[in-house]
Amino acid sequence: MTAPVPLVPLPARLAVFLSGRGSNFEALARAAAAGEVPARIALVASDRPEAPGLARARELGLSAIGLSAKELGGKAALEERLCELVLGHGIDLICLAGFMRILSPSFVDRFPLRILNIHPSLLPSFPGLHAQEQAVRYGVRVSGVTVHFVDAGTDTGPVVTQRAVPVLEDDDEDSLAARILPIEHETYVEAVRRVLAGGWRVEGRRVIFS
Ligand code: GRF
Repeated sequence: MTAPVPLVPLPARLAVFLSGRGSNFEALARAAAAGEVPARIALVASDRPEAPGLARARELGLSAIGLSAKELGGKAALEERLCELVLGHGIDLICLAGFMRILSPSFVDRFPLRILNIHPSLLPSFPGLHAQEQAVRYGVRVSGVTVHFVDAGTDTGPVVTQRAVPVLEDDDEDSLAARILPIEHETYVEAVRRVLAGGWRVEGRRVIFS
């Protein structure tokens, strides 16, 4: 059996977009540095110049760029700048990691099946904000993590990988989020590895790995 043809020449050049703490970014950066994913982080970009994740990226010596939609003149200008950065840095795959903006169809359409997102629930349950709180309120016994390709909807793109996490009876949003977070880190690394390895296709909504 021959190995699948990788999605892009390896090591791949990743961009991470984040808006906050950046723990998923750090998990990806650690995995890349350790050779656990055949990639290097070539760009970290944020719509919040003060995001702690951006400061951490700078400490790691990475190219880390904060953009303000307000200063640039709105969402379209911000996305245009992000697009220029992605093209200018020769990015192969964009990983959204706590990026708190919905990318418009015009941005997403420029990078089909080249943008991943991580979401702290088993989609399609509990999309959008406060997924862990939604899960606790609903009373589900199992929630989890989803990594999916990004399409023009909110947390609606084809699912790459999912992991389940139990919800306990005394959980609140914070305790469930704390149980899910380390699983997010593992799941994102695994998903990036699988996507970069290639040999997959998308049929309808289904991502089929050979
Ligand atoms: C994570 O829970 C992620 O799933 C969600 O936003 C949070 C970001 O956390 N989209 P961090 O900034 O990666 O620590």
